Amino acid sequence: MMPERPRIALYYASHDGQTRKIVDRLAGHLAGHGVGASVVDLSASPSPTIDTKADLVLLAAAIRYGFHLRDARRFLERLRAEVPDSRIGVVSVNLTARKPGRQTAQGNVYLRNWLKRTGLSPAFAAAVAGKLDYPAYRWFDRTMIRAIMTISGGPTDPSTVIEYTDWAAVESLAVELAVLVKATL
Ligand SMILES: Cc1cc2nc3c(=O)[nH]c(=O)nc-3n(C[C@H](O)[C@H](O)[C@H](O)COP(=O)(O)O)c2cc1C
Repeated sequence: MMPERPRIALYYASHDGQTRKIVDRLAGHLAGHGVGASVVDLSASPSPTIDTKADLVLLAAAIRYGFHLRDARRFLERLRAEVPDSRIGVVSVNLTARKPGRQTAQGNVYLRNWLKRTGLSPAFAAAVAGKLDYPAYRWFDRTMIRAIMTISGGPTDPSTVIEYTDWAAVESLAVELAVLVKATL
């Protein structure tokens, strides 16, 4: 009989597509490391059946105005009722994570606050830098993000498009995840 492959079920909430891109990349790397990976978009299916038999359920969520997208927050409530924290992982996608030291649960304010607010003790938590795309934003959002960038020392030129995502770091996260789920078999 074939040995059973470890499996990670990935769920994500993305507004502008970068979190989707990150999750797709993670799933590809996981498959390359012998880990089964399924991907569910919470905006297309906000209350999906939760794959409670997966070795790990990973929730990836984008930040807007200080909060993870609502679909992700709601999903996490359901998830915790069905899966123990020890089989839950979270990935926060935001622009703060473009800065050194802001990729961990301790170092990233959004991730830290999310875990504190929910009391979640996940098996895995990481923050990944997203994308800045001023031309794609509505006037209000562009104005607000430029103000935030002024405060945080980022680019304010309204023509700026920068993908801050560190794809090598995303691959490293996939390796960490693969090691984690293989250890549970
Ligand atoms: C309207 C808006 C609000 C945002 N608010 C924050 C924020 O409060 N903190 C932050 O670090 N990044 C913030 N971002 C950056 C997003 O998290 C980043 O662009 C991410 O890549 C979005 O992921 P998505 O493409 O999957 O929606 C914001 C972006 C937009 C467009």
